[in-house]
Amino acid sequence: MPVTPIAIGSDHAGLELKEHLKELLRSLGFEPVDYGTKDDCSVDYPDFGEKVSYAVSSGEVSRGILICGTGLGMSIVANKFPGVRATLCHDEYTARMSREHNDSNILVLGGRVIEKDRAISIVKIWLETPFEGGRHSRRLEKIKIIEQRLLNGS
Ligand code: RB5
Repeated sequence: MPVTPIAIGSDHAGLELKEHLKELLRSLGFEPVDYGTKDDCSVDYPDFGEKVSYAVSSGEVSRGILICGTGLGMSIVANKFPGVRATLCHDEYTARMSREHNDSNILVLGGRVIEKDRAISIVKIWLETPFEGGRHSRRLEKIKIIEQRLLNGS
């Protein structure tokens, strides 16, 4: 069976957690595609958020993970991209809901606000929880319509 690639990226504040999560993804049979950053020099989160979000938005990969200090900056960047549903999750409940209700395709984490073990548990839930569909599909369709309207300038 082909290995599913998962795009992953962070700034310096998310680097340590990114490295742990890459190991986790490999151990779960996924292929982490690392868009940087690669060392702990101070960088700007939009540069890395853009790369991962573009990979998901363009369909190059179906899912991505972004990490900055709080998760806030990466969330702002990622949700600018058409088709991206980036969700900042702090616990197991929001991780599950982000998949069941929002069909999250980018998981955002705050490297400075979350413990490593909790992050691991969030990632596992986010990877294995299916989208529920039903009434939630209707709501996501509405988001798509808003997106199209904004893109067309109407
Ligand atoms: C970097 O200091 C920090 O601002 C960034 O990682 C992130 O938390 C931004 O939202």
